[in-house]
Amino acid sequence: MTFSIFQGRSFLKEIDFTKDELNYLIDFAAHLKELKQNNIPHRYLEGKNIALLFEKSSTRTRAAFTVASTDLGANPEFLGANDIQFGKKESVEDSAKVFGRMFDGIEFRGFSQEVVEDLAKYSGVPVWNGLTDDWHPTQMLADFLTMKENIGHIEGINLVYYGDGRNNVANSLFVTGAILGVNVTICSPESLFPAQDVQELADKYAKESGSVLKLEADPMIAAKGADVLYTDVWVSMGEEDKFKERIELLLPYQINMDIIKATENDNVIFMHCLPAFHDTKTVIGQEMADKYGVKEMEVSDEVFNSEYGRQFDQAENRMHTIKAVMAATLGNLFIPKV
Ligand code: CP
Ligand code: NVA
Repeated sequence: MTFSIFQGRSFLKEIDFTKDELNYLIDFAAHLKELKQNNIPHRYLEGKNIALLFEKSSTRTRAAFTVASTDLGANPEFLGANDIQFGKKESVEDSAKVFGRMFDGIEFRGFSQEVVEDLAKYSGVPVWNGLTDDWHPTQMLADFLTMKENIGHIEGINLVYYGDGRNNVANSLFVTGAILGVNVTICSPESLFPAQDVQELADKYAKESGSVLKLEADPMIAAKGADVLYTDVWVSMGEEDKFKERIELLLPYQINMDIIKATENDNVIFMHCLPAFHDTKTVIGQEMADKYGVKEMEVSDEVFNSEYGRQFDQAENRMHTIKAVMAATLGNLFIPKV
């Protein structure tokens, strides 16, 4: 018997869940966070086995799925793309069928959205998208939980995203914001405005929720009235040959103190999904400084380390929110409706 409206479902992209379901998962994550903080066990997935499939690198997503699985009583198994046959010697379909015979749930991070969709189609178990080129749905739950913790509510928040408006995180913020009733501005050069299909999808949800969606090329105009300033790396995984052109294009879109001041909001918060280039303490950060003379990219070190920053709360919330999705979709909890 199924007690949970989430049971057996996958989370491949944000539109897989309704506004009420997304809000439920965010609130459930807040509850699980409290249980963890009070050392109250919540082993809803006792004895289950979880595959963690990674084609791309990860710190937060891998750590979050590992700790969340363990806290829930499940066993996480990391399967790096280079260690297994996946896609090289064995098709996605065949691999999915094998995983489905052994694992109770699968996390996938990689390039193609089609692959994560096929994993769900052929494995027969819940699949959770840990990032593809198109979407980053588990990131969204953590981000909107963090906003709710800081602002007290989600609907009506003014969120401004700066940088590459066509990447997975920008796509996800635009569409999730539209579903949840958040006013989202994507601030980037016109050449990096979201793709037409993403705009149309977001517009469709905004009509239902009342969100005001904007595309704005002027960083100062975009900032005014923002509650949240959000940015991501200018070059996503898989497009590392684009650093030069993106630095030239996006330097005016760096979130620095001028942008913070332009919000005219003393309570504004800064968010970043991480990892971030805010100094030269990374190999790539130093390389970019040597080659192009930029010591900080999408966010200034000053803002990153300021009282406005919430990026490490976001990082922690990855774990609580991923735990909520796993428990809701695999734990057969008593959630008859939301
Ligand atoms: N934000 C995020 O997905 O981080 P990782 O790439 O470290 O998983
Ligand atoms: N847009 C980034 C997000 C990393 C969490 C990337 O895809 O590399």
